[in-house]
Amino acid sequence: MGPIKIVEVSLRDGLQNVKQEIPTEVKAGLLDRLGDTGLKVIEATSFVSPKWVPQLRDGVELMQMCSPQEGIAYTALVPNMQGYHKALAVGFKEVAIFTAASDKFCQNNINCSIDESFQRYLPVLEQAKRDQVLVRGYVSCALGSPYPDDPVSPEQVARVAHWLYENGCYEVSIGDTIGRGTACEVKAVIKAVSEKMPVSAIAAHFHNTYGQALPNIREAVELGVLTVDASVAGLGGCPYAPGASGNVATEDVVFMLEGMGYETGVDLNKIIAAGQFITNAAQLTNHSMVAKAMLSTAEAT
Ligand code: HMG
Ligand code: MG
Repeated sequence: MGPIKIVEVSLRDGLQNVKQEIPTEVKAGLLDRLGDTGLKVIEATSFVSPKWVPQLRDGVELMQMCSPQEGIAYTALVPNMQGYHKALAVGFKEVAIFTAASDKFCQNNINCSIDESFQRYLPVLEQAKRDQVLVRGYVSCALGSPYPDDPVSPEQVARVAHWLYENGCYEVSIGDTIGRGTACEVKAVIKAVSEKMPVSAIAAHFHNTYGQALPNIREAVELGVLTVDASVAGLGGCPYAPGASGNVATEDVVFMLEGMGYETGVDLNKIIAAGQFITNAAQLTNHSMVAKAMLSTAEAT
């Protein structure tokens, strides 16, 4: 069993859906704590329209307030050139672009079709290549769309993932945005995608709405996926995916993978403490089963 890279997305995917305004100092406190857990990749914010996602409009201030650490790749989600320039101006050396396997979702999320999103991202990918900035890609709705009568096939996921990879994304994250996929469906999707690009460049980004994220991650890593996205305390959701709930909790992913013999490099106690910090400071619910179990055991002894 080798290493598995965890991409921590709580500051972006976890907080983007929270209605009450979270002070930038609290976000900086989380970012610095996450930087001390052994995580090697942290998605810190997004540079999207503040009208679409008001919670993350403080990305510049956040990066000025926190203390980025050596050896950690900090990334930011960008929907276009405007976001790309903002991310670079504040020091990001890696960004993530995001499209979908459902046209309807893509339209609702970034106001364009999938094919139009490719045209929008081409200049980002070209500029990033010139700037030597790494680009990660996301494919949302890879295991289903939030809308009725909107089927998503593994072949469609593979087409979109392949476009991202072929055009310069070093890694493509397969998103179960609505958290409804099951392990059989994960298998079909990962197999279809890995026929078009190396499995080692695929990441699993699973929301836990139906409680399937852990078995789905297990399936993905057994198929050769080496990167898993997760969010402390299971925070998360997409404002443009009705009914989507939190990402899988980082604490639970670390506990499961380490238990299976994989190395995540993440300190379980420190990641639990980071989850406790943000849920207490922002008055959010901690959805990590492992955190709940370990904290109640600690209280009882
Ligand atoms: P639009 O309205 O078509 O954009 O939105 P536009 O280019 O016509 O610009 C309209 C206004 O937005 C202008 O301002 C622009 O300056 C501004 P105005 O003149 O009206 O004052 N604008 C920006 N401002 C700041 N930063 C920018 C930016 N771009 C334009 N980068 C747009 C198109 C893409 C901008 C919009 O739809 C948007 O911001 N969408 C983001 C939605 C989002 O963040 N969703 C959540 C993340 S995706 C997700 O969670 C899924 C994922 O986790 C994987 C999974 O789980 O599946 C990744
Ligand atoms: Mg997500």
